[in-house]
Amino acid sequence: MIDLQLADKKHDEERQGEALVVDAPLIRNGRKLYIESYGCQMNFADSEIVASILLDQGFETTGNYKEADVVFINTCSIRENAEQRVRNRLSQFGVEKRRNPKLIVGVLGCMAERLKSKFLEEEKLVDVVVGPDAYRELPALLSEVESGQKAINVLLSREETYADISPVRLSGNGITAFISIMRGCDNMCSFCVVPFTRGRERSRDPYSILAEANDLFKRGYKEVTLLGQNVDSYKWKGKDAIEEAETEVNFAQLLEKVAVISPDLRIRFSTSHPKDITDEVLYTIAKHDNICNYIHLPIQSGSSRILELMNRTYTREWYINRIDTIRQIIPGCAISSDIIAGFCTETEEEHQETLSMMDYVGYDFAFTFSYSERPGTLAARKLADDIPEEVKKRRLAEILLKQQQTSLYRLQQFVGKTMKILVEGTSKKSDQDFCGRNDQNAMVVFPLTAGVKAGEYVNVYIDRCTSATLLGTVVS
Ligand code: 5AD
Ligand code: SF4
Repeated sequence: MIDLQLADKKHDEERQGEALVVDAPLIRNGRKLYIESYGCQMNFADSEIVASILLDQGFETTGNYKEADVVFINTCSIRENAEQRVRNRLSQFGVEKRRNPKLIVGVLGCMAERLKSKFLEEEKLVDVVVGPDAYRELPALLSEVESGQKAINVLLSREETYADISPVRLSGNGITAFISIMRGCDNMCSFCVVPFTRGRERSRDPYSILAEANDLFKRGYKEVTLLGQNVDSYKWKGKDAIEEAETEVNFAQLLEKVAVISPDLRIRFSTSHPKDITDEVLYTIAKHDNICNYIHLPIQSGSSRILELMNRTYTREWYINRIDTIRQIIPGCAISSDIIAGFCTETEEEHQETLSMMDYVGYDFAFTFSYSERPGTLAARKLADDIPEEVKKRRLAEILLKQQQTSLYRLQQFVGKTMKILVEGTSKKSDQDFCGRNDQNAMVVFPLTAGVKAGEYVNVYIDRCTSATLLGTVVS
């Protein structure tokens, strides 16, 4: 069995530069791969596919790029600062490459797709550029590099889902894992580069998803998060695995199929789109105790005019209706959001609408961003990025402050209650404490307790909280 190392996964839309390692495969070629990932959870899941492909070639992984033969950086383009971080990191790899000219440096993911061959021109140290749909070609591309050429494959695909590749679980705790259920996005939100870097939306065969979830559960995993840019538009058509009849599976049906694997396997999913989340999905969540009561439902802006400019295809009223329906069908469901401050032409009143929407929903958590124009997007082509930086900053700070207050309020509602927690391991801050999440995805920290192990469910009485964490003790 593969032994998993490395840090806790952060619940963060834009994770930065985590190296992923795994114990050696059975047959080695003596070469070492270092892979570092930036950005969304999909990117981290992709790195596990990449590692799987190279482990099959006999590579082993290392957590130290200075001892690697191949260094991959799996990149994010979502905002300009994400790209800047990657460029800074590449210059550090450049220092290593001057010391060891044989080192192969590869750029994967969204920046590779966005910049294509420009990357090879701009960053001389880069040997290979590979887009998100071309990872199967990595062994061939590495051979090209070894024969002295630069190599590139940034072809996007309408079919590739890597369904048959079993990802090696690189950065996990052996208890929670991500499963990609679809790739790409067809939404064309005007601010977003993702449809250009990850291509058209396609859904993965549900049988391979179920096989992966079953396998994880058999190996002791207790929680899976189903991943896609827009999980509610998951739709697969094909032959039924048993009766060979033509069937269709939507997201609610997929959720149900994963949920019945075992009541001891928790299911989470991300990201939902307000225009696509159906009542059928909400009823499915309500029906199964092991589908967590937590929905990430990005609003982006509270103003209908801005939402239209963003091409989000819903209004403030539509969003409010979705929230009301969630609260009615799944009482106590936690809701989180993504919010962008200072989108093109946003007025002060429209910014206030975002704040009032936050009051209305009372998000448990929100990822907040200041608008960053991305080349090639609809907004970059059609709208002026006309909100001054200092105004964006101030609006973002107001959004952040409101969210901190709301998050604290939400956590305070759990104090005095006992809840079921999946123990994920020892807390990052103290090896005398365990950490785990409740159903609503709040992080809970509690003292190590005799007889309790990572991977088990325990009941924890919450006696206090900080602004981000619940604190308590195990009760029998
Ligand atoms: N500027 C700022 N934030 C953005 N996001 C996507 N594109 C941009 C951009 N150009 C945010 C959205 C999305 C999250 C993943 O990143 O809020 O939901
Ligand atoms: Fe980008 Fe919109 Fe697709 Fe999300 S739904 S990835 S924000 S285009």
